[in-house]
Amino acid sequence: MKIYKLTQVTNQTIKAFDSLIPQLSSSCTLPSKKDLEDIVKSNATELFVAQENNQILGTLTLVFYKIPTGDKVWIEDVVVDAKARGKGVGKDLVLFAIDFVAKRQIKSINLTSSPERVAANKLYQKLGFVKRETNVYRLSLV
Ligand SMILES: CC(C)(COP(=O)(O)OP(=O)(O)OC[C@H]1O[C@@H](n2cnc3c(N)ncnc32)[C@H](O)[C@@H]1OP(=O)(O)O)[C@@H](O)C(=O)NCCC(=O)NCCS
Repeated sequence: MKIYKLTQVTNQTIKAFDSLIPQLSSSCTLPSKKDLEDIVKSNATELFVAQENNQILGTLTLVFYKIPTGDKVWIEDVVVDAKARGKGVGKDLVLFAIDFVAKRQIKSINLTSSPERVAANKLYQKLGFVKRETNVYRLSLV
């Protein structure tokens, strides 16, 4: 199994995301080819995939931005195909992302994970992420 930064969006990529995204959120619209290309081309995002035998098994996105308090990075949209879970793919994706960020001048990595995502919360804590006491808010506009 290899983890790499996606630089090109192929039909295989689109098919993989069509399968992976509903496993992350049942309410999300599937990303189009252009959506994925925008993510790949953007300086603010890095899209990583885990692949074995020419099959994409999972993905993770890093989001970077600068604000007055410094450079920030968030891990987003971590998902491993149900058939490939429990074999270290999620762990390897997160470790790859940590290594990628560690090579830059950024002091910490942020993420959120809903408490009902038991496997994900265990994974992040196992890899050293510490729960912060803060409130997460959302204003729905539709
Ligand atoms: C969370 C997710 C990415 C983990 O991927 P994975 O490849 O199955 O995880 P790994 O095999 O690398 O497991 C790494 C660690 O995660 C934890 N973990 C994984 N699956 C678990 C489960 N079913 N129950 C409890 N802990 C689990 C364990 O600590 C495990 O380490 P261990 O095997 O040494 O005990 C995967 O379950 C998934 O895609 N879930 C649905 C989408 C999701 O919730 N994404 C996270 C959004 S924040």
